Amino acid sequence: MTLGVNIDHIAVLREARKINDPDPLMALGICAQNGADQITIHLREDRRHIHDNDAKKIIASSPVPVNLECSINPDIIDIVCKLKPHRATLVPENRAEVTTEGGLDVIGKSDAISDAIERLHDAQIEVSLFIDPAINAVEQSHALDADMVELHTGHYANIYAMLYSSLPYSHHAIEELDLPRDELKSKLQEALDAIKTSASHARSIQLAVAAGHGLNYQNVKAMVDIDTITELNIGQSIVARSVFSGLASAVKEMKALCQR
Ligand code: PXP
Repeated sequence: MTLGVNIDHIAVLREARKINDPDPLMALGICAQNGADQITIHLREDRRHIHDNDAKKIIASSPVPVNLECSINPDIIDIVCKLKPHRATLVPENRAEVTTEGGLDVIGKSDAISDAIERLHDAQIEVSLFIDPAINAVEQSHALDADMVELHTGHYANIYAMLYSSLPYSHHAIEELDLPRDELKSKLQEALDAIKTSASHARSIQLAVAAGHGLNYQNVKAMVDIDTITELNIGQSIVARSVFSGLASAVKEMKALCQR
């Protein structure tokens, strides 16, 4: 299983102050030296975290391949074709959302997705589609000539969090909030089954399979056990954990400077 580390959240922290610290560029070496097989970044239309210049520098200097997530907006696709990441992952984008809220509408938006894929392929960029785990979405991704699909694990992560953790991955789209525990357990099984059957169907038609969204230190194991999934893209939980695993040395270093 390969690991793509999504470093957008480092830029989120930087943007909270609108300064240049922390710089997501500084994360590349640390991630690669510690097992990241890929760096994932999202160039959003509103540039709320990663900016064009970050993407340019990250693609130029990353020691591991860069997976650039983006919308199908033709202006963004123009930029991505020039940036030439190893891979583009097409995701739905809604300006009001806090994070990506669902898979691409591969059926309703098929013409626009097909145009984007063709242009990215012409620029020699591999294309993955971020889709909900459903057989028809997998088949449509194949028909649209995608190289890969990334299965949205947010629904699984939300139900898992409601059952086993006090920390939901996201408060959006939680329809099951009031369900009793045994019903939640069968919903979790349904969510897992949807991911498993979508992944094995994708593999059977030669699509590579990644998964991501809301994965964390508690819920990742079930994904690792699905052998038709070969890549996970994880951001929030890794950056959140690094705040606490790095806090002790950061405080110690500052305290040493404060001592006369
Ligand atoms: N995969 C895709 C397509 C995403 O949009 C994101 C979030 O930017 C992730 C994976 C990582 O999700 P998380 O930050 O919840 O781990």
